[in-house]
Amino acid sequence: MKKIGNEVTTRNHASQSGLLQLENYMPYFDSIQQNRHIHRLSLLPVQSLNKIIALNEYYKMILDIPGSICEFGVNYGSSLATWVNLRNIYEPFNASRTVHGFDTFSGFPAVTNEDRNNRVGDYSTVEGHETILESLLTLHESFSPQCHLKKFFLHKGDVSETVPEFIKDNPHTIIALAYFDLDLYVPTRDVLLSILPRLTRGSLIVFDELNCPQFPGETLAVLETLGLNRVSLRRIPYSQFGSYMVFGN
Ligand SMILES: C[S@@+](CC[C@H](N)C(=O)[O-])C[C@H]1O[C@@H](n2cnc3c(N)ncnc32)[C@H](O)[C@@H]1O
Repeated sequence: MKKIGNEVTTRNHASQSGLLQLENYMPYFDSIQQNRHIHRLSLLPVQSLNKIIALNEYYKMILDIPGSICEFGVNYGSSLATWVNLRNIYEPFNASRTVHGFDTFSGFPAVTNEDRNNRVGDYSTVEGHETILESLLTLHESFSPQCHLKKFFLHKGDVSETVPEFIKDNPHTIIALAYFDLDLYVPTRDVLLSILPRLTRGSLIVFDELNCPQFPGETLAVLETLGLNRVSLRRIPYSQFGSYMVFGN
């Protein structure tokens, strides 16, 4: 694993430039008007397809669980947009399946000793990205039959504050799927403690960086709050460090 810019990656140099080649391969795609989005699928790198398949598997596990999808750590919104699209596909008439994304959008606000070599500001997005993301998600939602009902929400700020506020302001909240991608110890710990009363047996908790040497804080937060040997962690084959647990199992 190495750091490129302000993000960590497991991809090797060759695969990075391979991806760039893919993007540059057929520039004329952008001039094709009909079914451009379908044609562009041929450029989808395997890593992206892998991620979509993984999120799809997780989504299928909550179809009979009531409640919202909460993603903690949104960054540019690749997973959040996928949740919105999966909701449109699987549950177009389930207006109660709201999707919530929590992030500072300015990267890690603080790091502690548990987070090893990570730095404040890592994973910051381009300034104002949350406004673009709001428009992008609105556009995705516009393809759903109940698009007049807003069903996604961005919560900007430090999750240690925004998540308790969100629960206080929305006392009806049940969480069907909690997706942890904060990478760090303190926010993962704080959010876990805040949302525990809002899970039901069967709710899915997904951790994106368990057992990951670059981000030990996530494992430590689970160890401290849930206890690694008190829960049944599982993994699906499409993810490196991703693990999930069904709450109550
Ligand atoms: C690895 S990125 C998330 C990637 C994202 N899930 C995706 O699918 O592309 C980690 C994110 O966690 C956010 N983050 C870390 N600590 C945070 C905190 N205390 N409050 C809010 N966001 C935080 C960072 O800003 C960063 O965008």
